[in-house]
Amino acid sequence: MTGKVVVITGSNAGIGREAAVALARRGATVVITSRSELRGGPAREYVRRHSRAGDRIVLLDLDLASFASIEAFAAQVLDRFDRLDVLINNAGGVLSDRRETREGFEMTFGVNHLGHFYLTQLLLDRLLASAPARVITTASIAHRTGTMLWTDLERSGGYVGTDAYCQSKLANVLFTLELARQFDPAALTANCCHPGAVRSGFASAEDTRGFERFIVALGRPFMVSPRRGAKPLVVLAASPRFEGVSGGYWVGGYVPGVHRHRPSRQARDPEAGARLWSISEQYIEQTLRKGT
Ligand SMILES: NC(=O)c1ccc[n+]([C@@H]2O[C@H](COP(=O)([O-])OP(=O)(O)OC[C@H]3O[C@@H](n4cnc5c(N)ncnc54)[C@H](OP(=O)(O)O)[C@@H]3O)[C@@H](O)[C@H]2O)c1
Repeated sequence: MTGKVVVITGSNAGIGREAAVALARRGATVVITSRSELRGGPAREYVRRHSRAGDRIVLLDLDLASFASIEAFAAQVLDRFDRLDVLINNAGGVLSDRRETREGFEMTFGVNHLGHFYLTQLLLDRLLASAPARVITTASIAHRTGTMLWTDLERSGGYVGTDAYCQSKLANVLFTLELARQFDPAALTANCCHPGAVRSGFASAEDTRGFERFIVALGRPFMVSPRRGAKPLVVLAASPRFEGVSGGYWVGGYVPGVHRHRPSRQARDPEAGARLWSISEQYIEQTLRKGT
């Protein structure tokens, strides 16, 4: 990975932070992101210490719940780096209570999918100019129980945190497969993964309560470490085995190695992929038009 530039969203903690360590150890320059200096500073030190990568670890602010933050982040990446080899769309979470992004989108949809969709658009030209580039998204096995509620993607008519989360993870897979359809794999590949059930900050007390909190707490002793959970991201980003491989859903976790699985039927539906793409573009265009 020497000479390559990697951006990892949501990398001040959990899976993203461990992926940053592993990729920096392999020689990459890694841009890690945080939405708070309080968490970002210690994370940068952690990644530097464990990777011995020094200045090759760059910390930039990114809040995917704000278009202004996404734009400022993308502008800094484009300004500071003349290439971008790998974009890892990893940040995300589940929320028991309905919240909204700065632009008024339901938070789970807005951060887990739409924020990453917008970020990918803003960085796409630089990725293509650095071909062959890779876009990797942390999805989840939860996409299997997800349904795209096309008439109410933002779940304003009745919100259940796990339903919104599963829908957002289905959106991650639909996005990946649609991106893979749009580009020649010699120029850009798109893959997504399920990291396993990982003992991270996911479903923290800040974000969840009640049944959702209980289920995650119950499962914690059986979960894998964030380092192990980062494995699919690291392999998809760095391994020559994935040169030219695009449109895959890969699973890590307990089982050694990273294995290709068939995503759910809905995730494989090209019409659903194109529909989500077009809706996401419309959301962004409408928001930008409103702001001008
Ligand atoms: N843990 C699991 O069992 C599991 C299973 C399947 C999939 N996943 C997926 O794995 C990914 C990483 O999660 P994790 O397990 O590593 O959990 P984590 O430890 O909670 O890490 C999530 C990261 O995303 C960041 N983030 C959250 N909201 C953000 C926003 N609005 N803007 C920018 N960054 C934001 C968090 O930042 P803060 O520190 O500021 O909150 C944190 O750095 C997620 O997409 C999750 O859906 C996790």
